[in-house]
Amino acid sequence: KSGIEWNPSRERLIVVSNRLPFVLKRDESTGKLIRKSSAGGLVTAVAPVVVDCGGRWVGWSGDCSLSVDDEIPEASEEDTTPTAGLLKHQVVPVYLNQQQFNSYYNGCCNGTLWPLFHSMSDRAVYSSEYWQDYIQVNQLFAEKTLEAMELSKKEGPDIVPLIWIHDYHLTLMPSILRQALSEKNSNALLGFFLHIPFPPWDIFRLLPWDDEILLGLLGCDMIGFHIEDYCINFMDCCHRRLGCRIDRKNLLVEYGNRLVKIAALPIGIPFDRFQRMAEEAPRLVKEKRQKIILGVDRLDYTKGLVHRLKAFERFLEKHPEHIEKVIFIQIAVPSRTDVKEYQELKEEMDQVIGRINGRFSTANWSPIRYIYGCVSQAELAAYYRDAFIAMVTPLRDGMNLVAKEFVACQIEEPGVLILSPFAGAGETMQEALLINPYKIDDVAELICSALEMPRDEREVRMKNLRRREKVNNVDAWAQAFLKTIRSTTSMDPESDSK
Ligand code: ADP
Ligand code: G6P
Repeated sequence: KSGIEWNPSRERLIVVSNRLPFVLKRDESTGKLIRKSSAGGLVTAVAPVVVDCGGRWVGWSGDCSLSVDDEIPEASEEDTTPTAGLLKHQVVPVYLNQQQFNSYYNGCCNGTLWPLFHSMSDRAVYSSEYWQDYIQVNQLFAEKTLEAMELSKKEGPDIVPLIWIHDYHLTLMPSILRQALSEKNSNALLGFFLHIPFPPWDIFRLLPWDDEILLGLLGCDMIGFHIEDYCINFMDCCHRRLGCRIDRKNLLVEYGNRLVKIAALPIGIPFDRFQRMAEEAPRLVKEKRQKIILGVDRLDYTKGLVHRLKAFERFLEKHPEHIEKVIFIQIAVPSRTDVKEYQELKEEMDQVIGRINGRFSTANWSPIRYIYGCVSQAELAAYYRDAFIAMVTPLRDGMNLVAKEFVACQIEEPGVLILSPFAGAGETMQEALLINPYKIDDVAELICSALEMPRDEREVRMKNLRRREKVNNVDAWAQAFLKTIRSTTSMDPESDSK
């Protein structure tokens, strides 16, 4: 349960994201479609809210071979994920063909916007062909959302749809919807949450379609970001690129005759659920005398995986007394495997891990255990619980939920979180050991200090980290988003002081 208050005769929630909260796969023996849970913070965060309030979810099924003829299945009885309660009539699928998948998803979303928004502009590709498909797919999502709104309106004449759009795939959708709503003389609340960083103006302006993205987003009543820095970057871009008036104190952007509310809303995790899973999970790693250093990431170049491995290598080089006393477990989920940058990273990982293991292994020990695949949340909880150190060292990251999941699962011997200040999580998780991931030597020394940190200090740090994440959990985040967007209805441009 999300604990969110909802008036079903007044409001209807429609969530829109690139992916549905599950992937559809065809069972080879029966030919029937089955749901497979899709990992990721967005799904765990938003699914309970939609289930609780009987809302709808518009998104892509993850399979280009599906069409309108394929019926969405209900969840199976064994499904215990947060999305199991989402009934098929609540799911509004968007169908993408192979060309759209290549051009919109692999091309524009993950070849252009993902690297640029993470301030890695040298990796970004700019293609007007990709951009045209991005526009077209945003239109497609908008059409499906309008259909979902019509269904909601039929359920009650006074119902106001609350449309909650997620992430960088759908930045043009708000203005498309706003236009359609005004043509139909229909009302709805439009909100957007960006799950990745919003870059500074100097980086954002490199995008040939920077103005279009800003105008797209300004179709909203409210836009949420994880931290204040991203809010400021966005407002600064609106001011410098579009000449909008901005109110930095109250976080408002004036656009036309409307005020768009900007809000910093750091996402949380289902803390109690992770803690419970950690209490129930069996022990996976048998070696008791070796301390576990853990990494859990999607295989993505923003996560700083190669830098992390090199720091671990340096640590072994400088501190041979730890040989055979630690193991580094890296769990990496394959991600966006059609994109060249991701394929290259996979190869580099294999090479670096092979080199380090070849260099330091002994008859009974290898320094790195590399799991390339998706692990269930219950298993993840066991790794988080048993790790002595978690290394969350992205080069850039919107928030990073792994850092939060780790502390939620630390219910036994307190461990240490090594965290990059370039993740949104670095803003609030101040009791972690914060380190610049590019400083390989310093990271190596920090691993050593973490291993030797006295128990008292570990305990105090972990207690504070856990206390904060328990309160600022995912429900608190969703509630704060809904509260903020509801409050915008009373906003009157005339009455707001500048
Ligand atoms: P991102 O959204 O960029 O992937 P986050 O750290 O915010 O980064 O969220 C990642 C989510 O995916 C977390 O909820 C984490 O538990 C999950 N995840 C990461 N790696 C794995 C893995 N190997 N197997 C299963 N789930 C994973
Ligand atoms: C990040 C993005 C999400 C995305 C997830 C997994 O968390 O913010 O929008 O869903 O990565 O990536 P994928 O490309 O597999 O959807």
